[in-house]
Parts: sequence; structure tokens; C-alpha cells
Amino acid sequence: MGLATSTAAASAAHAHLVGRGPRFSEFVAGQRVFDPAEVVAGAGPALDGAGVRDRCAVTRGSFFDSVPDGGDAYLLKSIIHDWDDDSSLTILGNVRTAFARDGKLLLIEMALPDGAPPHPGRMLDVEMLVHTGGCERTAAEYSNLLPQAGFRLSRAIPTAGPAAIVDAVLVAP
Ligand SMILES: C[S@@+](CC[C@H](N)C(=O)[O-])C[C@H]1O[C@@H](n2cnc3c(N)ncnc32)[C@H](O)[C@@H]1O
Repeated sequence: MGLATSTAAASAAHAHLVGRGPRFSEFVAGQRVFDPAEVVAGAGPALDGAGVRDRCAVTRGSFFDSVPDGGDAYLLKSIIHDWDDDSSLTILGNVRTAFARDGKLLLIEMALPDGAPPHPGRMLDVEMLVHTGGCERTAAEYSNLLPQAGFRLSRAIPTAGPAAIVDAVLVAP
């Protein structure tokens, strides 16, 4: 979810994420950009620019209402850090409702280290607090948050950059 640039980049880098392939057969197209109407209005040029328009569907809406259902994987990059725990749980709960069985939830977020070692996410944490009321979280904080929305943290995968991939799976009801 989020600006088309994220989806366009993922689609361009991983050509196997093609629409109507077996992994993404539940979707009209392989990947779906989901954002409010005023944002998806600008998605076309980003998808065209990356040459992936034919592999990405675009849906407008608010993740506080619902998210497109039936996906095998939901990727939320820099989404949850915008929100406090209550709002994050509303978003994650709506993703949980939309989930296909055995789906995957991937959050790309800062995942601050425990304690106080320097980390680029520390400044972003302050920015989130001031601008959106959100925050950067540690892997342990994601591990506490996710079960409240029906997920379990599987692992936090480091990347070459400051962000981590928070890999979560469904908890059986
Ligand atoms: C920090 S940006 C991250 C964008 C993109 N994923 C990235 O990493 O570049 C937050 C995104 O959340 C979207 N957003 C904000 N409120 C939303 C809502 N109620 N429903 C769906 N998307 C929303 C914004 O339009 C924006 O695309």
C-alpha cells in the first residue's frame, strides 16, 4: 500500500510478480496500488515510468475502512510508522479481514534497535511524532503490536539500508 512508486519499483525489480500468475491469481492484476483517491490519481505516470502499468491494478480507498481482499501478500511500506498503536491496529485489523488463507504480511519499517545505539530511524521517530503522531518501533514493539490484530511476528529481516522487513504471519483464529 502506498504511493505507486513503491509498487512500481517492486514490480520492475521482480518480473515474476506478474498479474494472473498462480501466486497472485486472486487479484485482477498481479499487484495492486491502494491509496486514497487524490493519491491514486497520480499513480499512472509512476507505473508508466517503470514500465509496469500492465502488471499493477490501482484501487482507491481508505485503509481505515477496508483494504482489497483476497491477496496472497500485503506489503505496507512506511505505513504503520505514520500512526499510533490504535490507528495502526485499525489498519492491520482491516488487512487481517482481507487476508486470504496463509497469506503474508510484510511491513517495511525502521525496526529500531533495542536500547539507545545510534540509528537513522531515531530522527525519523521524532519526525513521525511531530508530523503524524506516529512513531518508529523496535522489532519487540512490532512483536507486541501484531498479535492484537491477529498476526504474529515471524522475523525481522535486516536490509542493506536502515529499514527492516517485518515478516508476519496469520495467527489461527
Ligand atoms: C509515508 S507514505 C508511504 C508511501 C510509500 N509506501 C512509500 O514507502 O514511499 C504513507 C502512504 O499512506 C497513504 N495513506 C494515508 N492515509 C491513507 C488511508 N486512509 N488509506 C490508504 N492510504 C493512506 C498515503 O497516501 C501514502 O501513500
